[in-house]
Amino acid sequence: MARVFPLLASQIIIFFLFSFSNQSYGYATTLDKNFFRLKEEKLSHFRLYWHDIYSGSNPTAVAVVAAPQKNSSTLFGAISMIDDPLTEGPELSSKLVGKAQGFYASAARDENGLMMVMNFAFMEGKYNGSTISVLGRNKVFSPTREMPVIGGSGLFRFARGYVEARTHKFDATTGDATVEYNIYVLHY
Ligand SMILES: *[C@@H]1O[C@H](CO)[C@@H](O)[C@H](O)[C@H]1NC(C)=O
Ligand SMILES: *[C@@H]1O[C@H](CO)[C@@H](O)[C@H](O)[C@H]1NC(C)=O
Repeated sequence: MARVFPLLASQIIIFFLFSFSNQSYGYATTLDKNFFRLKEEKLSHFRLYWHDIYSGSNPTAVAVVAAPQKNSSTLFGAISMIDDPLTEGPELSSKLVGKAQGFYASAARDENGLMMVMNFAFMEGKYNGSTISVLGRNKVFSPTREMPVIGGSGLFRFARGYVEARTHKFDATTGDATVEYNIYVLHY
């Protein structure tokens, strides 16, 4: 009995491994990675300037939801929709590389913390049409904020990584801001 038991146990384990791995679904298939012609994963770095413009007649950021409690110092609950130019240099007049499209919301009651949800839609060169999706917490008055890259499309399929945001310029009167974004992204 003492000798039979380990044998029996291993057979039971093999049976279970087999029966689980062998479960078949008509709608699901395991693909060979080579089928997708995925090459070596590479790490790319982009440095872009993000322009959030509330002022003037052609704003790129609009407040779509006001903070429900008017006395909230952090505007808790406020939401802005953005279609912010991404340029190569800090000046708005420098080369346009893409747009940051999405929204951000004041998600913290006791500090200035935004939740950012945006797609960096590239419009230039070989990256034209490809996107990087960023979702993260942005404590806007901290010198450096890190947010995750949670995915992408086109050249950024299977993307993962992070961005570092640093405010380059901020006008407290208008709310206009220029932020340097360094994007570090693993993709194929
Ligand atoms: C804000 O206003 C609400 C009533 O609208 C009040 O209950 C709350 O205590 C106020 N909060 C602060 C921080 O003043
Ligand atoms: C980017 O792609 C769009 C749509 O395919 C095209 O209209 C546009 O001219 C392209 N822009 C650049 C700079 O290549």
